[in-house]
Amino acid sequence: MKIIKVANYEAMSIEGADHILTQLIKKRLNVLGLATGGTPEGLYQILREKINEKALSLNYLHTVNLDEYIGLPADSPASYHYYMQDIFFKHIPIPKENTHLPNGYVDDVVEECTRYEELIESLGGVDLQLLGIGQNGHIGFNEPGSPFNGRTRIVDLAPSTIEANARYFSSKNDVPRQAITMGIKTIMKSRQILLLASGKEKAEAVKALIEGDQSEDIPATALQGHPHLTVIADEAALSGVTRTFSSV
Ligand code: F6R
Repeated sequence: MKIIKVANYEAMSIEGADHILTQLIKKRLNVLGLATGGTPEGLYQILREKINEKALSLNYLHTVNLDEYIGLPADSPASYHYYMQDIFFKHIPIPKENTHLPNGYVDDVVEECTRYEELIESLGGVDLQLLGIGQNGHIGFNEPGSPFNGRTRIVDLAPSTIEANARYFSSKNDVPRQAITMGIKTIMKSRQILLLASGKEKAEAVKALIEGDQSEDIPATALQGHPHLTVIADEAALSGVTRTFSSV
């Protein structure tokens, strides 16, 4: 695990965007795994500017997102389809058909999970997966108790996740109770992982990821077993960690 300590959210976003951009320029990424939420918003804003500044052609690139709520259509402003389109895809030269998210607005959600897992395999797997981390240590929507060998599947959202994500809805009651998520095994098969964390409310989860014992109670601890994991976190997110590491 490589840990890069940065001062704040902005520095995390710059460093994270640079990590991905360098590999896009070298054409090292064919399949880029993406996350949503507040954490990567700054990264997407910087990355889309740099992609356009450098006039990178992304015709060959496929993206696969980690998760999506069940029951929200793609044009719902709170859906992850909408978020990705709004914050990233519509600003960069990538063919729309190359941008993939699980579809939580289908009749047969179980079949959709199988389709999505097979799609990732048919693309040759994920070269680099971007992750945030939940306050409870979730990755994707793999909530505490998720099996480390889990594949793409339907999950119930934890009360703390519903609470944390209520900011994107008119009220807490509108937050869907279920989602489709890549499983922990699906995530672990990515050839590289880049996890971003900012803010003191992530400190406990980040401490567990870096120094805790591996346990399905804190899903992010599965990542300790990944051979190419980079964590870019700010001082507040790293405030509970006692180990020392490189700072930027
Ligand atoms: C989002 C995702 C989640 C978030 C996590 C942190 O696609 O998979 O695991 O990364 O809930 O969310 P924020 O960044 O909003 O704190």
